[in-house]
Amino acid sequence: MKRIGLLTSGGDAPGMNAAIRAVVRTAIYFGMEVYGIERGYAGLIEDTMMPMEMRSVSDIVQRGGTKLRTARCLEMLTQDGQKKAVKTLERHGIEGLVVIGGDGSFRGAKALTENYGIPTIGIPGTIDNDLEYTDYTLGFDTAVNTCLEVINKLRDTMNSHERISVVEVMGRHCGDIALYAGITSGAEIIIVPEIAYDMDDIVMRINRSRANGKHSNIIVVAEGAISAEDFAKQLQENTTYSVRSTNIGHIQRGGSPSMADRMLAAQFGNKAVRLLKDGIGNRVVGIHRNEIIDMDIIEAVSMKKKFNYELYETLQMISM
Ligand code: F6P
Repeated sequence: MKRIGLLTSGGDAPGMNAAIRAVVRTAIYFGMEVYGIERGYAGLIEDTMMPMEMRSVSDIVQRGGTKLRTARCLEMLTQDGQKKAVKTLERHGIEGLVVIGGDGSFRGAKALTENYGIPTIGIPGTIDNDLEYTDYTLGFDTAVNTCLEVINKLRDTMNSHERISVVEVMGRHCGDIALYAGITSGAEIIIVPEIAYDMDDIVMRINRSRANGKHSNIIVVAEGAISAEDFAKQLQENTTYSVRSTNIGHIQRGGSPSMADRMLAAQFGNKAVRLLKDGIGNRVVGIHRNEIIDMDIIEAVSMKKKFNYELYETLQMISM
């Protein structure tokens, strides 16, 4: 394979730039050309792309966002959109494609592979950590660390005023950001879409923690379960402690990627190009039990994300 395309798609995630760099540099190492496609599948359909050189990816390993920019492209879900995308690839003699994105982006890659025989490799880039086949997605670690910075600050002021803070984090339908941020920030309670909450039990746990000498409480709410604002209102009707709500929002999508995300980006990007170089397409790369893996894209997108109940129980045991 002599020429490949590269795009980032869906919500951006810290580490996407580092992965772009790894793809471009690995391809050049193997004597392949890379075309950077702008604005995800929208750019592929509209034919906006540029050749990428060694220096095109200088000074981006540490930057959040994505140099190629990104979009959520509904047209890619249609046959018409897919045909236009294939035409663009043919026009430029692009033989394989690397797609950095989440579940929705992988569905576009799957369509190109399944319906048109274009070898594609998916790199999981999303803060949500909502893909079952990989233990971690690119950007998740940084996003959780950003949430921790916010929660640490909230703890200071909540302690001073003896309040309860309800903090909303992202994750779409997945509770992993709330779960990991909850455990590692010392939050007393997390609310996730995977588990129904019981207000009486929550109030009992708060009262018990106060009786045990705590001066504040942190409740991390995943956006897929309920908004912080609505939950705070419900809670305030059931407690005499003062409740405040905060939505971290898009702050958790930006920022310089952590070491863990930069390392994943280097390994995922490198592996993706090695597969294409060997003529292997229709795969996604990931990490499982600390090893970089690849898997059939159709199998990967059909897997249902499992919630880690053991971690949830751990939080309940150690957080009071
Ligand atoms: O998939 C990443 C994500 O940040 C989700 O956690 C969130 O639900 C969604 O994207 C927000 O999308 P947008 O940036 O389009 O508002």
